[in-house]
Amino acid sequence: IRGNSQAVGKYIAEYIIDRINSFAPTASRPFVLGLPTGSSPLEIYKNLVEKFKAGDISFENVITFNMDEYVALPRDHPESYHTFMHKHFFSHINIPLKNVNILDGNALDLEAECIAYEAKIKAVGGIDLFLGGIGTDGHIAFNEPGSSLVSRTRVKTLTYETVVANSRFFGGNLEAVPKCALTVGVATILDAREIVIIATGAAKALAVKKCIEDGVNHMWTASCLQNHPCAMFVVDDDATLEM
Ligand code: GLP
Repeated sequence: IRGNSQAVGKYIAEYIIDRINSFAPTASRPFVLGLPTGSSPLEIYKNLVEKFKAGDISFENVITFNMDEYVALPRDHPESYHTFMHKHFFSHINIPLKNVNILDGNALDLEAECIAYEAKIKAVGGIDLFLGGIGTDGHIAFNEPGSSLVSRTRVKTLTYETVVANSRFFGGNLEAVPKCALTVGVATILDAREIVIIATGAAKALAVKKCIEDGVNHMWTASCLQNHPCAMFVVDDDATLEM
């Protein structure tokens, strides 16, 4: 628990840098990082970019896999997760573009795209560290309440709550928010060797309590992390307010 979202962002950025640097990745033995979008990771990306510019970290031998992407939103739409990641992170660091993996929500065959994504993760030896955010309803990636805890990368219909929450990025217009997304599954996330979750702000407090203190269940999908041998929630004071 840290005092505020800035402190959370700094802590996680330094944690990731420490993990990558102690792994000492090479071209033949890259570090594989899973990444989220949303407002919660912004502070982390800002810190990582600063540390890169200061020479504290290189992403040359890092491979990334993003958690999710909207279906049928043009790739260059300002709110696509492709645009988000390049704007806030990839265009500011030295990661080779061939090392960046983001699901293609415009693929002609979405099911084949999901199967290929799982295969790509497997082919590079699995994910070393999966960084994630959490929805107010406890969803992780776009694994909405009710998702199977053994789910793999697939198409998900977004819940009304998520559409409302994400409408803030679409000028508050519910109609403009995509209603489906491609997302890694709960089991895809659990396969990572390590998982770090960010939760900041009072709006996440109920989800934090449900996922950490209540039982493991598919209605609060991030509760699955209780079954992982190496998972950590990094939260700010406000996210602990639920009694
Ligand atoms: C979206 C993303 C999630 C993210 C969540 C919370 O639903 N698919 O991966 O964790 O939003 O976003 P925020 O950090 O903006 O609260």
